[in-house]
Amino acid sequence: MPIRIPGRRRVAVLISGAGSNMAALIAAGQAPDAPFEVVLVIANTPEAGGLAIAGAAGVPALTIDHRPYGKDRAAHEQAINAMLDEHGVEVVALAGYMRLLTPWLVGRWAGRMLNIHPSLLPLYPGLDTHARAIAAGDSEAGCTVHIVTEGVDEGPALGQARVPVRDDDTPATLAERVKVAEHQLYPHVLSTYCRTLH
Ligand code: GRF
Repeated sequence: MPIRIPGRRRVAVLISGAGSNMAALIAAGQAPDAPFEVVLVIANTPEAGGLAIAGAAGVPALTIDHRPYGKDRAAHEQAINAMLDEHGVEVVALAGYMRLLTPWLVGRWAGRMLNIHPSLLPLYPGLDTHARAIAAGDSEAGCTVHIVTEGVDEGPALGQARVPVRDDDTPATLAERVKVAEHQLYPHVLSTYCRTLH
């Protein structure tokens, strides 16, 4: 059984890509008074850039590639869950994890799995959030950290951050501004969440 540091929740981060939110969570969890620490990073593809960042930060980082499992999502998730249990994980943070989860994994981690989404939910669940905000003529955009439930991007929000949409924004420039907000919001919300977890 892994050693527990009293008062620090053991967090796993699931990623599919660059892992910039993951990096922000790892850094926040390394602060002396942090209420959590990132003890494991799992990617569903070996191409996820975040794996190298996690490794360089001294966090165990592994790939559980979904491809060999084909359509058997449950088996892929069971492999992930086994690693979460092996590392004594208490809270799961999805951070750009691009796989839909089955009700089984969501249920296994009910109330203990968080996600960050790059919109002011309930606006724009799903993909292409920044293009949709610009197309709608919104003056504000942002990001939401929420509890994961079975419906995609539907769970209760734990926190949001807002940024302005500028007249000359493209989806890329807006995404960049929102990302800066994401990197502040996610560690903040996860800290508050972990402090109140029983
Ligand atoms: C972020 O915009 C996050 O909100 C969304 O996917 C993106 C992941 O980016 N769910 P990164 O891998 O954390 O850089």
